[in-house]
Amino acid sequence: MSIISKDISKAVALLNQEKLVAIPTETVYGLAGNIFSEKAIDSIFKTKQRPLFNPLIVHIPSIDYLETIVARIPEKAKLLAEAFWPGPITLVLKKKEVIPDVITAGKDTVAVRIPNHPTTLELLKQLDFPLAAPSANPFNRISPTSAEHVESYFKNDIKMVLDGGTCTSGIESTIIGFENDEPIIYRLGSTSIEDIENIVGSVEIKNKKNSVPNAPGMLARHYAPNTKTILVTDISDAIKQFQGKNIGILAFENEIKNKAIKFQIVLSKTGNVSEAATNLYSALHQLDEQDLDIIIAERLPNHDIGKSINDRLQRATK
Ligand code: TXA
Ligand code: MG
Repeated sequence: MSIISKDISKAVALLNQEKLVAIPTETVYGLAGNIFSEKAIDSIFKTKQRPLFNPLIVHIPSIDYLETIVARIPEKAKLLAEAFWPGPITLVLKKKEVIPDVITAGKDTVAVRIPNHPTTLELLKQLDFPLAAPSANPFNRISPTSAEHVESYFKNDIKMVLDGGTCTSGIESTIIGFENDEPIIYRLGSTSIEDIENIVGSVEIKNKKNSVPNAPGMLARHYAPNTKTILVTDISDAIKQFQGKNIGILAFENEIKNKAIKFQIVLSKTGNVSEAATNLYSALHQLDEQDLDIIIAERLPNHDIGKSINDRLQRATK
């Protein structure tokens, strides 16, 4: 029997029993549990096979709730919350005592956001606690953007995926921390740098591979298909290096005509980077199912969400 269901009250019941429920958000599906339940949080790490040093994002129902869990809110954090919540931006702020150490991997900060999905906002309203929710994929695998993706990963491990359809933004939230009250981007994501800088002025980016003490989840290899994947600027040129192989193509805008190609997905026929983001993970899931020797992905234009997509593709290639 399928574990996919639209029944919010069933999700409430399971979460109240310290069980996990996969929840829809505008970015990707999350594997959610009660932040105050040691048992639920333990199951999140076990189910995902996630290392304990990698902290979780806390999903809250309203801006007002922030004060319950956060000790200090810098002025620019307030501006960002007001501008983008509910939405795909996560703020890393000094935590209050109530947040268990296992949520934050022992750090004195907590990552928090209000997701912009009607089903999950309703769910959060009906609960007495916020939800810790990492993306609902096994550690290092492609994030899920549909209830079916989650089901195929975890049908034997969890009781329910709350169905909210396909995720509209398609890649994870942008993560912002604060150093001396100034915003720093720790993870590129669904809220573009351009939009963020419109609200708070110029921001520094510290998401370099391997060198990010602040966001331990930003490993060099992440978000990865099982199939070997490379990221290139010129697909036709790259195809020449893989003669005789089963080649899959992830193109941005234009279909590549070449007999050597076994399977191809175009992310946005109109060349729209947001549409490309919406389709990205689903495309990687599909490509990964084709028994290919190599996936050749095309680098996107380096603006707006294009930057975030290039970041994800880069991490998929290691
Ligand atoms: O869009 C999203 O953010 C999705 C949906 C489900 O909300 N969630 C998500 O969670 O992407 P996850 O666990 O896959 O990624 C969370 C990232 C990790 O890289 C983690 O290291 C970072 O957030 N993080 C969590 N708490 C942090 C903290 N206190 N300081 C710095 N980074 C933190
Ligand atoms: Mg993740």
